[in-house]
Parts: sequence; C-alpha cells; structure tokens
Amino acid sequence: MTHYKSKMVEPIHLPAREERAANLEDAGYNLFNLDADDVFVDLLTDSGTGTMSAEQWAAMIRGDEAYAGSSSFRKLEDAVADVMGFDHVVPAHQGRGAENVLYGTILEEGDVVLNNTHFDTTRAHVANQGAEAVDCPVPEASEFDSEGDFKGNFSVDEGRRVVDEVGAENVPAVILTITNNSAAGQPVSIENTRAVREFCDEIDATFVLDACRFAENAYFVRNRESEFADATVAGVAREQLSYADVAVMSGKKDGLVNIGGFVACRDEDLYEHAKQRGILYEGFSTYGGMSGRDIEAMAVGLREAVEEDYIADRIEQVRFLGERIAEHGVPVFEPVGGHAVYLDAGEFLPQIPAEEFPGQALAVELYREGGVRCVELGSFAFPDSDRPELVRMAVPRRMYHKEHIEHVVDTVTAVWDRREEIGGYEVVDEPPMKEIRHFSAELAPL
Ligand code: F0G
Repeated sequence: MTHYKSKMVEPIHLPAREERAANLEDAGYNLFNLDADDVFVDLLTDSGTGTMSAEQWAAMIRGDEAYAGSSSFRKLEDAVADVMGFDHVVPAHQGRGAENVLYGTILEEGDVVLNNTHFDTTRAHVANQGAEAVDCPVPEASEFDSEGDFKGNFSVDEGRRVVDEVGAENVPAVILTITNNSAAGQPVSIENTRAVREFCDEIDATFVLDACRFAENAYFVRNRESEFADATVAGVAREQLSYADVAVMSGKKDGLVNIGGFVACRDEDLYEHAKQRGILYEGFSTYGGMSGRDIEAMAVGLREAVEEDYIADRIEQVRFLGERIAEHGVPVFEPVGGHAVYLDAGEFLPQIPAEEFPGQALAVELYREGGVRCVELGSFAFPDSDRPELVRMAVPRRMYHKEHIEHVVDTVTAVWDRREEIGGYEVVDEPPMKEIRHFSAELAPL
C-alpha cells in the first residue's frame, strides 16, 4: 500500500504506434534524442526525475537567495549533520560537481583510486586529475542470478592485491559507492563498510562514500544484515556513514530533489581545501551552484529519504517491477537492486552479436512497444569493454503508480514474446569522443 497520494498532476501521452516508429527514426534510434513528451513511462534515470513532496515545495518559498550566509544553507548543514552525521558541507550543483571539488582536492597525478565500482562520472573525474580508477567489485557483482544479499560489496582482497602492486603510498583514497550503481544497484553491507574502514586505516587512505543512494542502501542493510534487524533505516544510514571520512553526494537521488549535491566531511583541513576549490568551480561556499530554494528542498528531502514508509514504498516498487518481469522468464539481474531493474539483453536477444548492440535493440523495442524509455549500458555505451549487455530500467522516486509499473511489465513481456523477430543496429554518426557517444550518436537498423 503506497503511503502517499497525488496533489498535483501532469498529463502523459502515449503516441500511436506509427508515431512511435517515426519518433524512433527521427531520433536516429537513440532514445536520448526523443522528446520527453513522446515518452509514456520514462525510466531513463532515477536522477533528478522524482516528485517532490508538499513539504519540499513549501520550503522552497522560504529559500534565502543571499549570496553569502544564506539561512537555507544553515538548514542544509543541519540536515546533513542530523541525517548523515557530518559537520562540514561544501555545496555543489550536482554529484559530478561535488566529485570535481573533492577529487581535485585529494588526488594528484599518478595516484591510484579504488572503488567497488566507479560510476562513469567518478571514473572521469579521477582520470581528470591524472589518477587511475581501479574497480574492486566482489565476483558476484557480475553474476546475473546468483544469490547474494550484498553483491555491491567492495572486495578487500582485490584492493590488497592492487595495493601490493602499486604501493600503499600511491593509493590516497578508497571509494565505496552505495548502492553500487554500475553493479545493478546492489547494496553494500555494514560488515563490508567496516572492513573497508580497516583497510583504509591500514594503508592510510581517505575513505570516501559515494552516498547518492545511501537511504536505499540502508533499507537493504536493515532487512538483510541480522545485526540491524531491529534498527531504523535512519539509524542504519548514520551508522554506515559514520565509518567514512568524506561523503560525496548527488542530491538528485536520495536528496529527493531535481538538482543539487555536496561534499560532506569531518576533517577541518579537508573542509577548508574543498571549500576553496568549491568557490572556484561551483560558487560561494553557502550556495555552490544551487539557488536558496534548491537548497531548502534538499534539506527537507534528505530527512524524508530515511522515513520508513517512503523508503519501503520506494524499494518495494522497484522489486515488484523486477519480480513481475522475471516471472515471465525474462532475464533480469537478481536480486533486484535499489533504484533500477537491469535486463540482460545478451540473453534476451542472443541472435544479435555485441557489435550490433543487443541492448540498444532492446531499448528501442521497449519504446516502440509501449513508449517506455530505458537506457542501454552495454557495448553501445561502453565501446571496447567486455561489460555485459545491460538495459537499465531506473525508477524515478515517488513518481509512478502501480498502473505505470504494470504497463512496463506488459511492455517488456510483449517484446519478450516477439524477441526472435528483433535485429541489430549499426552506428551511422558518432561524436569525436567515443566514451560519451551514447548520448548523441545516431544508429540505423541492419
Ligand atoms: N555517483 C553515482 C553512483 C551516480 O549514480 C551518479 C549519477 C553520480 C555519482 C553523479 O551524479 O548526475 O548528480 O552529477 N548517476 C545518474 C544515473 C546520472 O543515471 O545513474 P550527478
């Protein structure tokens, strides 16, 4: 039973089948090129796409737009202290802005950075400092249907192996991404978080939590890690964050806002340095690229993110979607993660080889069939890598109702039933930077 009701509505529209086919052609079979008005259920991302609460909208009216010393920023500091347990906050316009501030402060050329799995912007910001990003996922992270409560964990064994190879003095930071977005949104346990803390102490590295989805992660910990069975999600979140030195946050996820982010830390010295870099790239240290009203909304959103009813609705909705699809025999990453359901396009469309983009072919068909937009995370988005052919269906927070989710289930199963007719694609036009081609390249059916 959902614990909220609508107070404001926005019509959505499902174009006719012929229009959807024409839209795909006009978009060069790249779903980033579609007009959002032509999308019926948009599962492109859970980032910045959610619905704000009445309390958040009310808070926005109180936004203090003062350049310096804004009272809205003080409310954000209080929320970060109460919910996340950090004294110092350097605001940023979104997660990658916060990454630029933090990694530009703590990394130097030639450094090596470890992470359970670097999200794309994290990897890019580490590389932008001349440092090398090395992933240390646990082996289960890439297994589609193995059991495992915490397939998002960091492999300390793998981390030690890398440190032995490159030398501890070259590893100034270890990042733990909760939940692990690039590993199907799988959670990280507190047991693993404690192990990473010990590992960081051992090699004298800064422990960074990429906390975008910290509340979602806490829900899994409470439900799956026996030590926390009687804890609150808010209590678990604080406990998990307490082990880290720094958190880097995209408010567009568990901040429950459309834009915003920050770096939060305990160390005075790190705070001072990050603050200076923040002023250079994001804006003065009491707004950092956000308006006062954005900051107000995030201060409220952070508190709402750890409310029991909200977080249970959220995670269970995503699980419902994944389980309903899997019931039909569709290959889905299991267990279902926090923010998204991941389809295995390689298994869904075995007739399409990697160089003909099975994931993109599947994403195109989901739009053609039901006006549903998802994102390919396979050989089209990550050329020259051996990543699995994934299609991510990310669910925006508090936006869609059961009927929308059922429409998505019907759409996926209808495509599944005619999967043998589906063919591959070729790239006909791509930008010079191949790493980001999936945002704008054009394709054509083969
Ligand atoms: N870290 C993680 C784990 C993320 O998932 C994202 C964004 C960022 C950092 C960067 O935050 O977008 O506010 O700059 N993920 C979005 C996604 C884009 O669709 O998964 P941002």
